[in-house]
Amino acid sequence: MNSIRLAPLAGITDWPFRLLCFEQGCDTAYTEMVSALGYVYAPKQLAVQTLLERHPQEKRLILQLFGKEPDYIARTAAALSDTGRFDGIDINMGCPAHKVACSGEGSGLMRDPALAERILRAAVKASSVPVSVKMRLGWDENSVNAVEIAKMAEDCGVTEIAVHGRTRQQMYAGEADWEMIARVREAVSIPVLGNGDIFSAETALQRMEESGTAGVLIGRGALGNPWIFSQIRALQRGEKPASPTVRERMETAMRHYRMLLEWKPERIAVNEMRKHIGWYLRGLRGAAQTRARVNTMENPLEVLALLQSIADAGEE
Ligand SMILES: Cc1cc2nc3c(=O)[nH]c(=O)nc-3n(C[C@H](O)[C@H](O)[C@H](O)COP(=O)(O)O)c2cc1C
Repeated sequence: MNSIRLAPLAGITDWPFRLLCFEQGCDTAYTEMVSALGYVYAPKQLAVQTLLERHPQEKRLILQLFGKEPDYIARTAAALSDTGRFDGIDINMGCPAHKVACSGEGSGLMRDPALAERILRAAVKASSVPVSVKMRLGWDENSVNAVEIAKMAEDCGVTEIAVHGRTRQQMYAGEADWEMIARVREAVSIPVLGNGDIFSAETALQRMEESGTAGVLIGRGALGNPWIFSQIRALQRGEKPASPTVRERMETAMRHYRMLLEWKPERIAVNEMRKHIGWYLRGLRGAAQTRARVNTMENPLEVLALLQSIADAGEE
């Protein structure tokens, strides 16, 4: 069975959102990326501990680490794999953000395969759970090296690889190159998962079939849309994927809100939910005006009442 996953999204894939995706049929999710250096220096810091929270009802959860010091990666992997909280540890070799990539972390590691290899060997040696890698195709179009890095990763004892079909230089522009993902898949014997531009159940199945990958990671396609997972599951069973009703969308948004409110300080929950609500509203009549209103509301009860009124008003 192909693995259908929620991709790691910093600032988004915390446990409440992951839980909603798991409930819809996602089988594996990743934490937001966690800095190995940050963990080594301040393991008890609230910001770090928040990223490491796991809800008891979550399914398979992989902790994603980023960093460029093999020693810090090893120490973090050892400590956190021993907590029993995570089913795997993933090394981030894909983050394109300037601050991360240009300091040699994330996708910056693809420019330094020797360092990438030291990091992977250190992680595999230190971790008591399987180690995976998530990478891009390479730094830029002149240095596409995903196949070489994948072979090296396999040699280091990495158990699976996820490939986002873009270079770092592309950031999120252009289209993900699934042919290159298929080439990586052909080059190694460990499972390769594909990632990039899956916004519908049909595309998910088509990409997996064409590329022969062991599964997919879905990022932006799941924003405000955990139903993409149930739609993929339906299509896999040969059924027609159903779209959520307005009521379902609003009730999910409200549940999401309540989970965040129970967990985080109100000010932070209100702020973080604004972007999620924007995504839950996408495509509904009057979405832009509603979003603008939500963005001025400071009291979560007011926001919840507004979402309830949209749910009660019914269908599109
Ligand atoms: C807001 C945002 C945050 C992201 N954070 C991470 C991250 O923490 N770790 C990571 O490996 N990739 C991260 N990514 C990349 C995604 O996991 C994924 O590779 C990318 O969005 C392409 O997949 P998609 O087309 O399904 O969105 C992030 C992407 C976005 C848009």
